[in-house]
Amino acid sequence: MEALFEILKPASEDWALAESLDPERLPAHIAIIMDGNGRWARQRNLPRVAGHRAGVEPVRQTVETCARLGVKYLTLYAFSSENWKRPRTEVDTLWRLLRLYLAKELPLLQRNNIRLVAIGRLDGLPERVQQELGESVEATAANDGLQVNLAINYGGRAEVVDAVNALLAESRARGTLGGLSVSEDDISKRLYTAGAPDPDLLIRTSGEMRISNFLLWQIAYAELYITETLWPDFTRTELLKAILDYQRRDRRFGGLSPAGGKDNPGRHAQPALRVVAR
Ligand code: IPE
Ligand code: IPE
Ligand code: MG
Repeated sequence: MEALFEILKPASEDWALAESLDPERLPAHIAIIMDGNGRWARQRNLPRVAGHRAGVEPVRQTVETCARLGVKYLTLYAFSSENWKRPRTEVDTLWRLLRLYLAKELPLLQRNNIRLVAIGRLDGLPERVQQELGESVEATAANDGLQVNLAINYGGRAEVVDAVNALLAESRARGTLGGLSVSEDDISKRLYTAGAPDPDLLIRTSGEMRISNFLLWQIAYAELYITETLWPDFTRTELLKAILDYQRRDRRFGGLSPAGGKDNPGRHAQPALRVVAR
């Protein structure tokens, strides 16, 4: 977390927000649905692709902030398996922007010890994108700071289907298909995100109250943070506010608040259970 203060202006709003964070209770995994690029452009009478172009800087800033804060995993929804429904020109621009980002940001990833991982049905991507993505993934494979999962041609249902098919194939190879029974752990271990803890905090920009086929399995107990801010306007300040909001939540996982709840009362905290004599 110290590394974050190096890039903040003393006495700035970001500095104050960062100071009020509890470094012991940072989310280990943040997932973000980066939405609203098209609306950002429309508000300015610009073509939609201008919104995508403006959405690159917030990615850079979010990645760097998470790395310096000491967040371990950041999963960014960049292209869904449903986004192919968009006009060809828009989709092509997204690939061009991704390739530009990869070429330009590799030094920043290396400098900050960030490992890049791509998740989704990558074999459905244009050849050149697959190749350049593969190169960046390989170049950063030994970094052990923040892991950035870039979700591309990603669908949450497809991910579960792929995990089940992987299980079936393994079982077929072992000749144990007949007696196959499956646990939650069997599935989790075969998801694209295998090895990462489930997201603690899921952020969606642009105010849409939906999941849009993102990490369906993994977000079972994620804290949701939905902001009206459009993705190109998403700043470090907003990210810090989201994490601060997360730290005020009372995560119960179906159980009860810690007894008394005094040290960590939480925004929706219930009063401590009391036995009342009658
Ligand atoms: C998110 O912005 C980026 C991608 C889905 C690739 P949108 O392009 O969905 O922007 P809106 O939702 O139309 O404003
Ligand atoms: C979700 O946004 C996908 C990404 C942010 C990459 P969409 O804009 O595709 O979602 P819907 O269509 O509004 O649900
Ligand atoms: Mg959208």
